[in-house]
Amino acid sequence: MTNLSVNHLLGIKDLTADDIQLIFQTADHFKEVINRPIKKVPSLRDITIANIFFENSTRTKLSFELAEKRLSADVINFSSSNSSVKKGETLLDTVNNILSMKVDMVVMRHSSPGAAHFLSRHIDANIVNAGDGTHEHPTQALLDTYSIREKIQELKGKKVAIIGDILHSRVALSNIYALKKLGAEVMVCGPATLLPKYISELGVQISWDVREALEWCDVANILRIQLERQQLKYFPSLREYSLYYGVNKKLLDSLGKEIIVMHPGPINRGVEISSDVADSKQSIILNQVENGVAIRMAVLYLLAQKRQN
Ligand code: CP
Repeated sequence: MTNLSVNHLLGIKDLTADDIQLIFQTADHFKEVINRPIKKVPSLRDITIANIFFENSTRTKLSFELAEKRLSADVINFSSSNSSVKKGETLLDTVNNILSMKVDMVVMRHSSPGAAHFLSRHIDANIVNAGDGTHEHPTQALLDTYSIREKIQELKGKKVAIIGDILHSRVALSNIYALKKLGAEVMVCGPATLLPKYISELGVQISWDVREALEWCDVANILRIQLERQQLKYFPSLREYSLYYGVNKKLLDSLGKEIIVMHPGPINRGVEISSDVADSKQSIILNQVENGVAIRMAVLYLLAQKRQN
């Protein structure tokens, strides 16, 4: 297989297991490239990419921009906070104005679930979803599963626990889809108020007990409490959340086995994860960030290939 089955990367739900393996193999090649003294290749010369971010981002935005520059694409960046969106311009008008400048691909983060799908139905460019509200964050799940594969080779049969605010997390949903497609077993763990009602329909196990989840898993992906998306109070206080669901060194050491610790970032140190875990040898948090560039290069390269076919 040399081509993706999709023209846009809107979510992991739309990908096949073969698509994911193709992205991984392509990322292996680009990871080797970005570790060379000359880190740049001409693959996307003559392709123009617009990064349009309607929500805050550090890792995803920088990682996409770096990936695009490493592939020699022309890059324009748009951030809604200092744009004419503030004057009432719609999403479609904003994007059509950007596209009239002859843009080929759009990387978009937006707070509304489905925003990337909406765009893909109305414009001609390839769309990459860089996170749409509480829905999906496909490149995060690809870099997460790629990082697990790098550490323990094979995902098939491995047990991955996703711990924290599952209800508001696009990372959780995309990871569940990716892990299941690759044959891993998945458990979600958090307070009952932060677990979606019908989550078991995705074929995942559920636990309300963080020790049980950690004892079960080979890999723990720990998620941030997304206070910015919480209109209601889902637990009494951050202190209490940390007491019952925080992952700290004492808890990890008591397991009698060494698990891999992941976090998509941004970390709230001392809330869902303690510093001595985030910075420990078990943590692959910065490997995830490093792999994000190779994964995003692979996604952009493969979507550009589809443009030419
Ligand atoms: N993991 C992630 O999406 O981080 P940013 O919000 O900083 O992009």
